[in-house]
Amino acid sequence: MSEKNTILLGVSGGIAAYKSAYLCSKLVQAGLDVEVIMTENALNFITPNTFEALTGHRTMIDTFDRNHEFSTEHVSLADKVSAFIVAPATANVLAKFAHGIADDMLTTTVLACDCPKIAAPAMNTRMYENQVTKDNIDLLRKYGWIIAEPGSGHLACGATGKGRMAEPDALMELIGDTLCKKKDLKDLNVLITAGPTRESLDPVRYITNHSSGKMGYALAKAALSRGAHVTLVSGPVSINPPSGADLISVNSAKEMYEAVISKKDEQDVFIMAAAVADYTPASFSEQKIKKSDDDMTIQLERTSDILKEIGHSKKPGQVVAGFAMETENLIENATKKLDSKNADLIVANNTKDEGAGFGTDTNKIALISQNGTEEIPLLLKDECAHIILDKITEIKKQNR
Ligand code: CTP
Repeated sequence: MSEKNTILLGVSGGIAAYKSAYLCSKLVQAGLDVEVIMTENALNFITPNTFEALTGHRTMIDTFDRNHEFSTEHVSLADKVSAFIVAPATANVLAKFAHGIADDMLTTTVLACDCPKIAAPAMNTRMYENQVTKDNIDLLRKYGWIIAEPGSGHLACGATGKGRMAEPDALMELIGDTLCKKKDLKDLNVLITAGPTRESLDPVRYITNHSSGKMGYALAKAALSRGAHVTLVSGPVSINPPSGADLISVNSAKEMYEAVISKKDEQDVFIMAAAVADYTPASFSEQKIKKSDDDMTIQLERTSDILKEIGHSKKPGQVVAGFAMETENLIENATKKLDSKNADLIVANNTKDEGAGFGTDTNKIALISQNGTEEIPLLLKDECAHIILDKITEIKKQNR
């Protein structure tokens, strides 16, 4: 678990805070560097000194702690953290996390962190079962949080029911899984194409498609979080690239082809998520094309199929994945692409399925490989990205 990983332990104001000291001690014993942030309310249940003695670091409480040199500490801390666990997470902090409220050290740091985040809710059963809390937890899941299900049993308020914070041993396991998953692409070079291409007709007009780049960018972010070195060859999109990726911005299918070919030898994995134009105008007019009263025909010519070329020239050990966006006969058409492109994996989706089209945050994919077909239910693109990477790692192991 260790490998110099820094874990951020957030402690909010609930009686289960006493268990956080035990969790903190277990994390330190596992060789992890542990930083602790407490909310003001947590001070009513446990003292910062307990955590300081366990971690050897100053326990942080307030963003604007004048005794400390940096008021931007939440940002510098966020940069070095491998995983963030908030235990106990009260209904109040869950609500703040779900709605982006950042009014103290814990909530500002959460907003600044893009590492995996785990929350261990702990509260009275009625608070836990209140629809508002349930909605907040659902929202957090949607934003990628891992929720450590609370247990049932005797609660500090005297009631019996669900709301007891998950036990520290179970939380240790969850943190271990999160950190291991994070590193399974370590030292691998992953090239991802994303977004649409633009095929210019003249200086003011081009042919393109509706691709938003979200799936490719989610894959880049997920691969980075799992330790890969990512080259992101992207067509024009309006989303920010994940920090840490080597971004190569391109416009046309030809530029994308050239960028991929120039990087192909050093890659371990290729994921072609871009919606590359299959045709481009046969000629480019240096001057703006003027209209006339007649109809107009544009002569188009085929672009190079990047996936096909990479698939057919792949070296032993390289894994090549492509996408198939279909409107009918999804599995049949995608399986044909697996063969014709000599790919190891085709991620297929039907644009007609609700939530699986262009520009959405969700996708409904099927994974087609020599191992068969797996149909995955509708999920966030971030979640799909991890499932695709899990499949690629499985194929990579078989190809060894
Ligand atoms: N692709 C590519 N280079 C191209 C065209 C497509 O790398 N010039 C890749 C895409 O990134 C995607 C896959 O190929 O991974 C899509 O396969 P393709 O057969 O091109 O799909 P469609 O264009 O949808 O094909 P068709 O119209 O025949 O269904």
